[in-house]
Amino acid sequence: MQNGMVLESQSVSKRFGNFTAVDQVSYQLFEGEAAGIIGPNGAGKSTFFNLLTGLYPPSEGRISLFSRDVTSLRADQRVMLGVVRTFQLVSVFDTLSVLDNLVLSVVRFHPVAGKKARFILGSAHPAAIVAECMAALERVGISHLAKETTAKLSYGDKRKLEIAMGLALKPKVLLLDEPLAGLSDGEITEVLDLVREVHKEMTLVIIEHKISRIVDLVTRLSVMHEGRLIADGVPGEVLQDPTVRQVYWGAESSRVFSGLAAEEKAEV
Ligand SMILES: Nc1ncnc2c1ncn2[C@@H]1O[C@H](COP(=O)(O)OP(=O)(O)OP(=O)(O)O)[C@@H](O)[C@H]1O
Ligand SMILES: [Mg+2]
Repeated sequence: MQNGMVLESQSVSKRFGNFTAVDQVSYQLFEGEAAGIIGPNGAGKSTFFNLLTGLYPPSEGRISLFSRDVTSLRADQRVMLGVVRTFQLVSVFDTLSVLDNLVLSVVRFHPVAGKKARFILGSAHPAAIVAECMAALERVGISHLAKETTAKLSYGDKRKLEIAMGLALKPKVLLLDEPLAGLSDGEITEVLDLVREVHKEMTLVIIEHKISRIVDLVTRLSVMHEGRLIADGVPGEVLQDPTVRQVYWGAESSRVFSGLAAEEKAEV
């Protein structure tokens, strides 16, 4: 049985001046999927996330969430429908506590918060929001750091905080933009375990540079190159696709290889 469609883009493009960052991308995501998007630097992956989540309006094309056209909806309206993204950069305020950072990120979207609460920090946090934020910290395993100054967190714990920021918005689909970037091997293992746990409860899309890190996690793999979606399918098949191999590993690696040894070599 085919699960329901969560998200769809139809021939979506984004131009910045004369430059086309995302070029006619048609993409479908189904409930329960853990979909990976890979592609070289500048391929348009993050821009595509920005289009899906409403940070940028597309230059052309259509975006649907749960079969509803959301092309003209703002980012916060899409969050309310259940699509939430994390950001590639560590997007937290270092001088605030972990909990304050989380509350701040949530009140922007929260219906209970109201407009005044958006500017309140400290003891005046609405109790319901604090409870939700603590639950999100619990889920990512850093609730013991709630009162800690965010600057003191390790890079891995900051990444968990970013994921908590996403989870606290109660997404149906969570888009993770390079959640493993800049982490140590140990932190990567922890964040991957967390992502696996999160996937039990929601649909995921993960942008990642290194295919080897997510190949066991994703049920589907898409490849972007120069703004275009050049491959989309089960990971094993996509990795054997001649165009993908050309883009990722260059002409000399077009021989058949076993495992991902050639990829690891090329990524160094
Ligand atoms: N706001 C913007 N204004 C102008 N150009 C932009 C803007 N955002 C992205 N671009 C350009 O669009 C292209 C795609 O960028 P994007 O960040 O989507 O790539 P990416 O695949 O996420 O790359 P990376 O793997 O390095 O994160 C790049 O050439 C980038 O410089
Ligand atoms: Mg990017």
